[in-house]
Amino acid sequence: MSLSCRRVLLIAKKLYAIERKADAPLILWTSFPYLANLGFQVGPLSSLPHKRSRWSSWLPSELQWLSRQIRPLLHWHLASFLCITAGSLLALLTPLVLKWLIDQIIPQRKMGLLVLAVGLIFLGYQGRMALTSLGSYLMLTAAQRLTLTLRMSLLGRLDTLSAEYYEDTPVGSVMYPLKEPIEEVAYFGSDLLPAILRMFLTASFTLVTMFVLSPLLTLAVLPLMPVFLIARQHFRRRLAANADTVQSNRLAWSTFLEEHLSSVIPIQLLGQEKRQERRAFRLLAHGVKAQQKLFTTSVSFTVWSSMAVVLAMCAVIGYGGEMVLSGTLSIGGLVAFYGLVTQLFDPLSGAADLYAGAQKSFASVRQLKSGLELSPSVTNAAAAVCLSREHPPQIDFTEVGFGYRRQKQMLHIPSLQILPGEQVAIAGENGAGKSTLAKLIARLYDTDYGTIRIGTVDIRNIQLKDLRQYVCYLPRDPVLFDGTLSFNLRFVRPAAPDHELHAAIRSVGLGQFVAALPDGLHQRIGPGGCQISGGQRQRLAIARAILQQPRILILDEATSCLEPSSERVVLGNIRRALRASTLIVISHRASTFSTFGRLLVLCRGEIVEDGNPHSLKFATSRTSNQSFSAVSTIEGDLRDASL
Ligand SMILES: Nc1ncnc2c1ncn2[C@@H]1O[C@H](COP(=O)(O)OP(=O)(O)OP(=O)(O)O)[C@@H](O)[C@H]1O
Ligand SMILES: [Mg+2]
Repeated sequence: MSLSCRRVLLIAKKLYAIERKADAPLILWTSFPYLANLGFQVGPLSSLPHKRSRWSSWLPSELQWLSRQIRPLLHWHLASFLCITAGSLLALLTPLVLKWLIDQIIPQRKMGLLVLAVGLIFLGYQGRMALTSLGSYLMLTAAQRLTLTLRMSLLGRLDTLSAEYYEDTPVGSVMYPLKEPIEEVAYFGSDLLPAILRMFLTASFTLVTMFVLSPLLTLAVLPLMPVFLIARQHFRRRLAANADTVQSNRLAWSTFLEEHLSSVIPIQLLGQEKRQERRAFRLLAHGVKAQQKLFTTSVSFTVWSSMAVVLAMCAVIGYGGEMVLSGTLSIGGLVAFYGLVTQLFDPLSGAADLYAGAQKSFASVRQLKSGLELSPSVTNAAAAVCLSREHPPQIDFTEVGFGYRRQKQMLHIPSLQILPGEQVAIAGENGAGKSTLAKLIARLYDTDYGTIRIGTVDIRNIQLKDLRQYVCYLPRDPVLFDGTLSFNLRFVRPAAPDHELHAAIRSVGLGQFVAALPDGLHQRIGPGGCQISGGQRQRLAIARAILQQPRILILDEATSCLEPSSERVVLGNIRRALRASTLIVISHRASTFSTFGRLLVLCRGEIVEDGNPHSLKFATSRTSNQSFSAVSTIEGDLRDASL
C-alpha cells in the first residue's frame, strides 16, 4: 500500500512538472483557480494595487477579488481544505478495495480478508462523509465571517457617500447589494467553493490512481476532457450575461418593493394599487424570464459537457473490455477502472452546474465590488483641521458658485457674511436655491468655485465630523426613527440626562403632550414618527437640535407645520437655548421672518435683497415687491395658467 502511495505521489509530481512545463493546465483544468483561491495564490488586500502573477491573471477577476477578501480567514479555509483532501483520498479506497476483492479475495476464498474489505468500504464511505462534512462546516463558518465583514465594509462605505449619490439612487438599489449579493457570495463561499474543491480533489486523485492502474486506458479517456473545456468556453459569456440580467432584475424588484411598501398609504389614497400591482407583475415576469433563460443556458451547457462522460464510459467498456479479452487487464482492474471513471466524470458533469452557479455568484461579486468601490464626492481634506465649539460661528461666502448635474450654475453668491450669533431669515420663491445655500454650509455638497468659511477657516479644511457637529441643518421633513421619543432625542447625545430631555421638550411646546402620553418619553412614535402629527415631528426634531447644541443652526422650513403663534414662541426658546449660536431660518411665511433683524431674499440662485424685513416692502406685502415678483418665474407661470 505504501509503495503504491509513493508511486502515486511520484506520478503526481511528474504530472505537475509536465503540466507546468506545458503551460497548458490540462489535468488541473477548471478547478485549479479555486484551489489557488483557497489560500495558495492569494494576493494582497483588496484595494491595494498588486503585482499580477501568471496564475492570478488567468483567474477570473471576481475570484481574484474574492481571494483577497478571504485572505484573513485563511486558517479556516486551510483546515477545511485538509479535511476535504483527506475525504477525497478516502474516496479512492472503494474502487481499489473492489479490485482487491475481485482479483484476490474472492478467487482465494479468504473470509477474514472479506470482512476486512467490507470494513474498509464502510470506512471509505463514512470517513469521506465525515471529513467532507467537517470541511464544509469549517468553510461555512469562514463564509459567514466573510459575509459579516463584507456587510460591515459595505455599510461603512455607504455611510461615507454624499448627498449627490443618495439623491440620485433609489433606496432599494442602495440596499440591494447588502442583501442578496452578499448572500450569494456567502453561498459561493460556503457551498459552491467546497463543492468545487471536492470536485477538483476527487478528479485529480482519481486520475492519478487511474494512471497507476492502467496508463493506456487513462490515455484513451483523457482526450475527452477538452470536450468539456470547449463547452465551457462556448457557454461562458452567455452564462455571465444571463446571470447579470438575473441580478439587474432582482435589483429592479428590490427598488420597486422598497418604494412601494414605504408609500402604500399614499398609493391607496391615490387609488393606484392595481397600477402598482401591474408594475410589480411586469418586473416579476421579467425576473422569471431571466431566471428561465439562465436555467436553459446552464442545461444546454450541462448537456454538451456531459457528452464527455458518455464517451468516456463507452471508451472504458470498449477498450478496457478488449484489454481484458487480450489478457492485459484483469476483470477486477476493469471494474475498478470503470468505478474510477464514473468517479472522475461525476464531478466533471457536476462541474457544469457548479460553473453555472459560480457565474451567478460572480455577478453578485461584481455588484458588491462596485458598491465597495463607490467613493464620496465630499471628503475630508488631507490636512483637515478639527473645529472646536469655541470657534466663532461666522459664515463668509466669497465668489461662491454651485450647480447640480442637470442644473449647472444654479447658485451664485459673490459675497455674503453672517456674523457670529446673528439671526438671519432667508426667503424666496420655490426653487430659488435657499435649501441649496443651506446645504452648502453643512457641506452636503462642495461648491463648484469660491469658498465658504466658518470663522476664517475654509469648510473644506474642516473635519467633516466636526463640521456636522458644529452645523445642524434641519429640513422640513425631519428624520425620525421607529423608536421611543427619548431614543430619538438621544440620537445625537446618547448620554443626555433626562432633565435636559424634558427641558428641550418643554422649549418646543411638547411638555404637556409628552406628559399625557401613557409611556411619556418612552412612548414609541412609529416608523418615521408616523404616530405623531407633522407639527409634533418638527417640534421633536427641533428639541433634538437643541440637545445637540450646534454653533450654527439652520432651520429649512423646519417650523412650517407650526401655527404662527407657537412658531414665534419656539423660535424665541431656540434663541434662548442657543444664545451664542448663529441661527438661519428659511421660510415662506412673512410672520416668521418678520421676527428677524435681517432677511435675505433669494431669486434664481442670487441674493436680490439683504436687509431688515420691515424695511423691505415685500415682507409685508409680497405682491407689491417689484424686485421679487418681476423675476419670479413661478408667479409668471401662475399668471399664464390663470389666463
Ligand atoms: N438634488 C438635486 N439635483 C438636481 N437639481 C436639484 C436638486 N436639488 C434641487 N435641485 C434644483 O435646484 C434648484 C434649487 O433648489 P432648492 O431646493 O435649493 O430650492 P428652494 O429655494 O429651497 O425651494 P423651496 O422653497 O421649494 O424649498 C431647483 O430648481 C431644484 O429643482
Ligand atoms: Mg427648500
